[in-house]
Amino acid sequence: MDIMIAVQDACVSGQWLTAIIFSLCCFLPSCLPAGQTVDYSSLESVVSRQGDTALLRCYLLDGISKGAWLNRSSIIFAGNDKWSVDPRVSIVSSVGDKHEYSLQIQKVDVTDDGLYTCSIQSERNPRPKLLNLIVKVPPKIYDISSDITVNEGSNVSLICTGSGKPEPTISWRHITPLARKYDSGEYLNITSITRDQAGEYECSALNDIASPDTKTVKVTVNFAPTILELRNQGVSLGRTVLLRCEAAALPSPSFEWYKGEKRILKGQGIDIKNLSSRSLLTVTNMTEDRYGNYTCIVTNKLGTANASVSLFPIIEPTTTSAVSSPALSTAPYGSPGSAHIPLACRYLVLALSSFISVY
Ligand SMILES: *[C@@H]1O[C@H](CO)[C@@H](O)[C@H](O)[C@H]1NC(C)=O
Ligand SMILES: *[C@@H]1O[C@H](CO)[C@@H](O)[C@H](O)[C@H]1NC(C)=O
Ligand SMILES: *[C@@H]1O[C@H](CO)[C@@H](O)[C@H](O)[C@H]1NC(C)=O
Ligand SMILES: *[C@@H]1O[C@H](CO)[C@@H](O)[C@H](O)[C@H]1NC(C)=O
Ligand SMILES: *[C@@H]1O[C@H](CO)[C@@H](O)[C@H](O)[C@H]1NC(C)=O
Ligand SMILES: *[C@@H]1O[C@H](CO)[C@@H](O)[C@H](O)[C@H]1NC(C)=O
Ligand SMILES: *[C@@H]1O[C@H](CO)[C@@H](O)[C@H](O)[C@H]1NC(C)=O
Repeated sequence: MDIMIAVQDACVSGQWLTAIIFSLCCFLPSCLPAGQTVDYSSLESVVSRQGDTALLRCYLLDGISKGAWLNRSSIIFAGNDKWSVDPRVSIVSSVGDKHEYSLQIQKVDVTDDGLYTCSIQSERNPRPKLLNLIVKVPPKIYDISSDITVNEGSNVSLICTGSGKPEPTISWRHITPLARKYDSGEYLNITSITRDQAGEYECSALNDIASPDTKTVKVTVNFAPTILELRNQGVSLGRTVLLRCEAAALPSPSFEWYKGEKRILKGQGIDIKNLSSRSLLTVTNMTEDRYGNYTCIVTNKLGTANASVSLFPIIEPTTTSAVSSPALSTAPYGSPGSAHIPLACRYLVLALSSFISVY
């Protein structure tokens, strides 16, 4: 036992050490002599960050008095004799006429956390100084859910766990322009997820010692196709016309075109271009038999959607005629109010919309 060794050594090292050992001994409740008390109200706290160097300050009464340092009940230093084998500890001694006798601990860790005592030799009233070293640890996320892909309507549960001292607060936010915050906690549970809730979720672990640690998880929400846009188009013989079928779906859907019951394929004056969310059907050199009802079918692994439009004949514009055109579009982005717009103007609109569609 440390104290026993200390007492033995006291015989060898002389009187001052005995006095110190005696005063140190007073911390152990069993040997507190009558009339001596430990003044816990003078307990000083020293906060240090894991890995940093901690300095526990203590001053001697004068240039000739002696001190000792204890870690709980183990002696680290007695005077300038180092008792501890720990290479991280050292004494920071006098600079100028302040009789400093501070303990420096390099690379502090959570195991160093606890009560330290600086005992000063004094004949009348030995007054040990108690210091409580609090080692804090920056927050760290050690586990987070991996990126996931789910179907719309699923229940999603994300988890994020972190450590630190003090215990960090874990919180989640959805990385969108609105940056919605959720109640703090390790779990983020989303019931019946919607496509708007897809994207990156950021977990952050926060305590008062350092900036938060953050990690993100990506949530992909698959959903069945819906057709957003498919418009009726008027075209005159010999002209080029473009039908654009615009869809929303995840994963990216495949597109098929039908005229009535018959599947339309590329070739013989018809071109089909598939992009991730749209299909473009171009008829170059319009012929009589190509007028009619076209259906766009959009499919992905979660479902299918279809919409139909008509490709109708129009008469080449002349400067004087103001022909009323057939009612436009059953699609959501149609412009049903355009029936009485002069034909020349409508033609311009059609030309423009085809132009825009291509890009
Ligand atoms: C203090 O004591 C604890 C427990 O005995 C030990 O783990 C730690 O390394 C000690 N620290 C110093 C600086 O002596
Ligand atoms: C999702 O959670 C809700 C409410 O907790 C529950 O009623 C529903 O059955 C769950 N759905 C699935 C697919 O697990
Ligand atoms: C979230 O889900 C997990 C696991 O599915 C469950 O253990 C936890 O209690 C849920 N938390 C809340 C706040 O519903
Ligand atoms: C477009 O997609 C359909 C169905 O997936 C396919 O049959 C057709 O060959 C594709 N066309 C082009 C130009 O990629
Ligand atoms: C076009 O054809 C589809 C499928 O054949 C049919 O469901 C739809 O009613 C037709 N639309 C028009 C405007 O004729
Ligand atoms: C368009 O088709 C008609 C009839 O098939 C043909 O006579 C004409 O030469 C074609 N025009 C062009 C520009 O291909
Ligand atoms: C088009 O969708 C309707 C329901 O929206 C469905 O009844 C019909 O069978 C579909 N047509 C095709 C050709 O898939």
